[in-house]
Amino acid sequence: MLEKKIYTLAIESSCDDTSAAILCNDIVLSNIVARQAIHEEYGGVVPELASRAHQQNIVPVVDVAIKKAGITKEDLNCIAFTQGPGLMGSLLVGGSFAKSMSMALDIPLIAINHMKAHILAHFIAEDGYEKPTFPFLALTISGGHTQIVKVTSFFDMEIIGETTDDAVGEAFDKSAKILGLPYPGGPLIDKFAQEGNPKAFPFTKPKVPGLNFSFSGLKTQILYFIQKNVAQNPNFIEENKADICASIQHTIIQILMDKLKLAVAETGINQIAIGGGVSANSGIRTTLKEAEKKYGWKTYIPKFEYTTDNAAMIGIVGYYNFLEENFSNADVVSKARIEF
Ligand code: KG4
Ligand code: ZN
Repeated sequence: MLEKKIYTLAIESSCDDTSAAILCNDIVLSNIVARQAIHEEYGGVVPELASRAHQQNIVPVVDVAIKKAGITKEDLNCIAFTQGPGLMGSLLVGGSFAKSMSMALDIPLIAINHMKAHILAHFIAEDGYEKPTFPFLALTISGGHTQIVKVTSFFDMEIIGETTDDAVGEAFDKSAKILGLPYPGGPLIDKFAQEGNPKAFPFTKPKVPGLNFSFSGLKTQILYFIQKNVAQNPNFIEENKADICASIQHTIIQILMDKLKLAVAETGINQIAIGGGVSANSGIRTTLKEAEKKYGWKTYIPKFEYTTDNAAMIGIVGYYNFLEENFSNADVVSKARIEF
């Protein structure tokens, strides 16, 4: 018997990227992301500008996604969209668009939790990519999130650790800002760190009980460290850029690894799947691969395209919800904060 083909249109607009994807079952046919360069000038995402850019981008992005997938909108079986968490104005653009289109085409609407989508991005079918098996631990690290989640099935997940202040991406970006690097500074810290000595400047790790994280103290520590040294030598940053970046990155990785080790010990689960923009970090990737040998873990790192904010990850969750007929009503609302 031929398997039925389910075509999902997915829309992601939680922060500063407008994205639309088409999936046929668990296969991605297109995944279009319009990045908003406008925020670079401001050193961070400006919510008002993000909403306006989503409004400008949403129609062309959906249009390109459908064309690139080689289908027409009449082929679609459902529309999945990011309900939250995120910036309210940004979420409203994608949510209202998804609602209108599902009504016009008379197909089901499926509201998706962005954080769960980062985790289930691992189930997008990709040649050569081995999907995790349940149960596994997901470490979601991005500019907006830092969580360790115990994942028991597609629909059964429990947050067992999360940040109490800044997200790990913010720790990278704010440290970069202190060093005078442009936004987003995470990739630049990664680049300079590759030439530096990670033990050159030891920073203290925060003492947070259990599986929760804290990054705001580290940022303050780095700020004072830089101010003190620049007062003595105005060229301190330029002369030590690689070592400073390597030391910051090393400290952040150690904070993440300490909590992961604790999570593995507490749950007895040693499959780790990472997601979110920060998982692009080369140091984190290398450290996790080393942990496979050192601790016998199995680690999963998806294709970069599916780790940063993208609609394909919303689409894969949409597909699994479609199979279960978990549909949303037309009065579903966007939520800046959303229960997990
Ligand atoms: O998932 P993402 O694209 O957007 C959300 O925040 O949801 O993540 C963006 C974050 C930024 O903080 C950026 O600096 C960080 O991911 N990032 C990195 C690297 N690439 C992106 N941080 C460290 N090393 C990288 N290579
Ligand atoms: Zn995200």
